[in-house]
Amino acid sequence: DHRPRVLSGIQPTADSFHLGNYLGAVRNWVAMQETADAFYCVVDLHAITMGHDPVALRNRTRLSVAQLLALGLDPERCTLFVQSHVPEHAQLAWVLSCITGFGEAGRMVQFKDKSAKQGSDTTSVGLFTYPILQAADILLYQADAVPVGEDQRQHLELTRDLAQRFNTRFGQTFTVPAAYIVRDTAKITDLQEPTSKMSKSASSPNGILELLEEPARSAKKIKSAVTDTGREILYDEENKPGISNLLTMYAALTQRTIDELLEEYDGRGYGDLKKDLAEVFVEFVKPVQERTRTYLEDPGYLDKVLAVGADKARAVSAVTLANAYQHLGF
Ligand code: ADP
Ligand code: NA
Repeated sequence: DHRPRVLSGIQPTADSFHLGNYLGAVRNWVAMQETADAFYCVVDLHAITMGHDPVALRNRTRLSVAQLLALGLDPERCTLFVQSHVPEHAQLAWVLSCITGFGEAGRMVQFKDKSAKQGSDTTSVGLFTYPILQAADILLYQADAVPVGEDQRQHLELTRDLAQRFNTRFGQTFTVPAAYIVRDTAKITDLQEPTSKMSKSASSPNGILELLEEPARSAKKIKSAVTDTGREILYDEENKPGISNLLTMYAALTQRTIDELLEEYDGRGYGDLKKDLAEVFVEFVKPVQERTRTYLEDPGYLDKVLAVGADKARAVSAVTLANAYQHLGF
């Protein structure tokens, strides 16, 4: 296979993905099945860094896999697996943690944000080392590119630094990966707080568009999205972040450009735009929900997909880990 290798992951930390996950990441994953040798994982080891319920985790991992299939991942054209099924992730994470500076890890903005909300007594060491595990996820597969949203840029930079550092100290072992961030949809924002990203863990219920929620509920949320007091539909992230976010989602879901939409909505009000976007979103999620249900009704099929995926993943990750161990003197 001479195509570039890609790897990306998503956390099973909620029952449903949100529209930011789809537009910022999963949509590109689907496209890259054709052009790349693609590895995609549900990162359940990452999902225990902030406390979790085991029953919910098991359920959410399966829900995540079903949603990925429903959104267009095809196990015949990519490698789809669950992180905890492949022990090399945790093994390489330990090695990488030993070449990561304590201060270097402490500069990760996501850690600072999440730990500030939790307080230092409840913040786990695992939340602190999370980006190192993420580096292991990527480097094990010798990924050339990592399709992610804007929130992952700093973690990708750390991954690149660790790959280069290991290679320099111990000999050529890892491909240095590039972030693949599609600018237009890299940061879908919260409907109620349009300067913050839409997030599984941080958004309020009305700020997040969940792919698996009742579509009528999503439509309501879109119609009550926060916008500015002006009237004109303009794309201006600084001064009109709410309207700009709605335009971004609308354009991405309809494969149109923002300019085309601006022309169409010239002289019309926010209400029209919201009503139309609500319709487009509902039409998008209905078949996704239908397909997700179908996959969930066939646990044997999901098990088979994941068993095949874990085997394909291990065939690559075990080779990389053995090579790293060799270089380390193990
Ligand atoms: P979350 O932050 O919602 O828990 P994950 O950490 O599981 O999501 O991230 C899965 C993928 O979705 C990552 O590639 C991440 O960059 C992307 N992503 C998450 N939120 C957004 C968003 N609001 N806009 C664009 N991409 C996003
Ligand atoms: Na994230």
